[in-house]
Amino acid sequence: MAILVTGGAGYIGSHTAAALLERGEEVVVLDNLQTGHRQAADGCTHFYEGDIRDEALLDRIFGSHEIDAVIHFAANSLVQESMTDPGKYYHNNVYGTLCLLERMRANGVKRIVFSSTAAVYGEPERVPIEETDKTEPANAYGETKLAMERMIRWFDAAHGIQNVSLRYFNAAGAHESGRIGEDHAPETHLVPIVLQAALGKRPHVAIFGDDYPTADGTCIRDYIHVSDLADAHLLAVDRLRRGEGSAVYNLGSGRGYSVREIIEQARRETGRDIPVVVQPRRAGDPAVLVASPERAKRELGWNPRRSDIGTIIRTAWAWHTAHPEGYGDR
Ligand code: UFG
Repeated sequence: MAILVTGGAGYIGSHTAAALLERGEEVVVLDNLQTGHRQAADGCTHFYEGDIRDEALLDRIFGSHEIDAVIHFAANSLVQESMTDPGKYYHNNVYGTLCLLERMRANGVKRIVFSSTAAVYGEPERVPIEETDKTEPANAYGETKLAMERMIRWFDAAHGIQNVSLRYFNAAGAHESGRIGEDHAPETHLVPIVLQAALGKRPHVAIFGDDYPTADGTCIRDYIHVSDLADAHLLAVDRLRRGEGSAVYNLGSGRGYSVREIIEQARRETGRDIPVVVQPRRAGDPAVLVASPERAKRELGWNPRRSDIGTIIRTAWAWHTAHPEGYGDR
């Protein structure tokens, strides 16, 4: 049996495909390479360059491989862009997921692990956030991810498509091999930006606001190692193969770090000076986002063992120093 990984050439998708291959699974990747990198999917059993909205291609893939589960990453994921171009997000994310689910249904594929986000919660009422907390997205990106989660649940109710939605907090770090890592253009995420500044590829790190109600005034986030995220997808596939039914899990470490703490840790790990400039708050940033990962630990047996901030920064730094231009394909 094979697993179809949509978006398997992206950051989290490629780390999950690598983890699947490491345990001997047959992996079929579908990626339109809009934001993914062909090299990131090297070693995958089969690679298709194409779009999840191409229903004929989906039929061809489902017809050519014995696919027993889909792990669905393919989506646009920039919060700011989703606010200026929501149509792009509804088309690729929501309509794309509809195409995928329709072709899964038509081809009798009954299991899907879905790449969701903490952005479905919006401004939290309390931290740590639990899966049962209110979902009220504060941006179009989070809104489309919540719509996708809900669509998948209706396909379960009507067609028995069993699903696990994984709500990631802040993915960071890189594969232990140093072969794959984070390469976005433009880069908007804190950890790669800090390390690009450490490499001298940026003059400084802009801190977006230091007047938040936190100990040092900067925002607190829950950083989770991308390979720990990858492990959770494998455990979610196992859960579905055991027939234990649909579920939703937060994936975070349960511990928060401020923007200043991340920069301090990066200074320690890299031994480099990292200049900072304090700028105004970025619109839509909640002060504190921290997960309760207890349900995933309890029900999936998930153990995020690489998510201490030292390991996250060290593995990311190894990737950035070995690949200062990322995959070098843009
Ligand atoms: N930040 C800076 N300077 C930068 C970049 C980020 O100060 O140059 C700050 C942000 O304001 C925020 C923190 O660093 O407080 C983390 O920012 P990221 O952009 O790395 O991540 P976000 O928490 O904004 O967003 C991430 C994912 C989203 C997802 C969200 C859910 O990128 O896709 O988590 O919590 F929706």
